Amino acid sequence: MNKNFYITTPIYYPSGNPHMGHAYSSIIADIFARFKRLEGYNVLFLTGTDEHGLKIQREAEKNQKSPKVFCDELSEKFKELTKILNLSNDDFIRTTEDRHYKSVKDIWDRLVKSGDIYLDKYSGWYSVSDEAYYDEDEIEDSNGKKISKTSGSTVDWVEEESYFFKLSAWSKKLLKHYKENKDFILPVSRKNEVVKFVEKGLKDLSVSRTSFSWGIPVPKNKKHVIYVWLDALTNYISALNFPDTTKEKYKNFWPADIHIIGKDILRFHAIYWPAFLLAAKLPLPKKIFGHGWILSDDKKMSKSLGNILDPIEIIDNYGVDQLRYYLVKEVSLGNDGSISMENLKNCINNDLANNYGNLCQRVFSFIKKNCSNKIPKAKKLKDVDLQLLNSLKNNVPTLIKLMNSQNLNEYIKLVVSYSFEANKYFNDLEPWSVKKNDPERMHTILFTISEQIKNISILLNSIIPVSTGKVLKTMNIKKENILISEIDNLNCFDHDKKLKELDILFNKIEK
Ligand code: ME8
Ligand code: MG
Repeated sequence: MNKNFYITTPIYYPSGNPHMGHAYSSIIADIFARFKRLEGYNVLFLTGTDEHGLKIQREAEKNQKSPKVFCDELSEKFKELTKILNLSNDDFIRTTEDRHYKSVKDIWDRLVKSGDIYLDKYSGWYSVSDEAYYDEDEIEDSNGKKISKTSGSTVDWVEEESYFFKLSAWSKKLLKHYKENKDFILPVSRKNEVVKFVEKGLKDLSVSRTSFSWGIPVPKNKKHVIYVWLDALTNYISALNFPDTTKEKYKNFWPADIHIIGKDILRFHAIYWPAFLLAAKLPLPKKIFGHGWILSDDKKMSKSLGNILDPIEIIDNYGVDQLRYYLVKEVSLGNDGSISMENLKNCINNDLANNYGNLCQRVFSFIKKNCSNKIPKAKKLKDVDLQLLNSLKNNVPTLIKLMNSQNLNEYIKLVVSYSFEANKYFNDLEPWSVKKNDPERMHTILFTISEQIKNISILLNSIIPVSTGKVLKTMNIKKENILISEIDNLNCFDHDKKLKELDILFNKIEK
C-alpha cells in the first residue's frame, strides 16, 4: 500500500500582506496534512510564494524597491504566517529559488521538444491583477473601464510577440481525463464549470511576455520571460527536485494527492496545469479541490468597505486553535461562506469552551480531587460505558471517509456530537454520587470518560492541534499513540503517572 501523501496550497502572491483568504486555504490544507499523518502516512505538505510577473513588478515599483528585495520582505511575512497559523508544512517554496528555475526551464524544454510551443504575436485582453488572459465575451464595461466579468479586475489591451502553448490540441484529452477520473476536480459543481468551458473548445495560450522583465527568461530567447502561471504551477514539482525524476522524493510524492486551491484559480489548475503535464509527458495530480470564498458579513472583503478581517489580529485576541476551528466549522468547504466576529465568539464559547474544554477540565479536576490525580483502571465496563465508547469507535471508518472526501463540516459535526455525549454521560452517571458506596464503579466511569477524551482529542488533533496536544500531554499519552488507529487501544494510559497541570484551554469570550 502506498503510504505517501503529497498535499499543496496555492503559492501566494507576496504583493501585499497575507490576509484571511490565504490563511483559510493554508489551514484547510494543514488539517488534511495532519490528518493523513494521524492515519500513519508519510506526508509532504508544501506551501510558498509566487514571486514573478507584472503584478509583483508593479507593486515593487510602487514601493520603490527592486522586485527581489520587495519579495524577500513580503515572502518572509507569509513564512511567518505559517508559524502563526501553526502549519505543519514540510517545505516553503519561493519561485525565485534556483531549484525552481531549474525545474521551469526543464518543463519549457519538454514543451518545446514535444512540439507544443510556437512563436507568434498575442493581441487581446490581460488582467495584471489576475495575471490572466480574457476573451471578449469574458469582459464587460464598468465606469468607462473594461473589467473581467468573473473577478471584476481591470483588463488592458496587450499586443506583443509571444510564444504560444498549443492548448487547443489538448481539449479532447482533458475531457477524457475528467470523465475517467471522477474525483479529479472537486466539488462536482466546479468540475461541471470546467467541463463546460473546455467543451466550448480551447484556444492556444500565450506563455511568454516581452513587455517587462521580472520573470524566468525563456531558454534561448532572453527577450521573453515565461508566463507567470506556467512558472508558478511548476512549483509543485520543483519542490520534489524535478527534473530529477529518478530520486526518492519525486518517485514517492508525484503525482500529488491533492492541490488545495480557491475557486478563483480553478482554470489554471484544472485546465492549464494538466495540459502542460500531458504535453511534458508527466503524470497528472490526483485531485484538485477548489474551495469557496470567505466573505465578511456577507460581503467580499475590501479596504473600501472596511470589513477586512485580519487573521493575525484575531489570533492575538482569541488564539490560533479558535480561528482554525471557527473557519472550518462555520464555512462549508465547497461553498462561499460568511464569517463575523459575532459568530466567532459564539463558536468559541459554545463548541470549544462549554463543550470540549469544559469536558476536559471537569473530568481532570475530578480525577485530581478523588483519585490522587491518576487515571484509574476500569474494573468492568457496563453497557452504558461501552455504548459511549462504541458509538465513536464504530464510526471511525466513516470519519476517515469524510475527511478523505474533504467533507470537513460533517466530520466536525460528528466529533462535536461525541463531546456533547461525553459531557452528558458524565452528568448522568454522576461519579460523585457513587464515590462512597461503589468506588470501583466510579473508577470505571472515570476511565471510560478519560478514554473518550483521548479519542475525541485524537479526532480533533488535526483541527485544533495546540489544545488537543495539551490535553493529550496532560494525560501522558505518548506521541506514538497519537494516531487514529489508537482509538481502539484501551491501554494507552499510564495509571501510575499523575496527570500534568492543564491551564484553561479556551477562555470564554465576553460579548
Ligand atoms: O492566485 N476566500 O495567489 P493569490 C478564500 N499566486 N480563499 C481566498 C480568498 C478568500 N476571500 N482570497 C484569497 C494566486 N484566497 C497565485 C496562485 S498557485 C500555483 C498560484 C486564497 O495570492 C485562495 O486559495 O491571489 C485563492 O485561490 C488564493 O488565496 C489566491 O492567492
Ligand atoms: Mg488573487
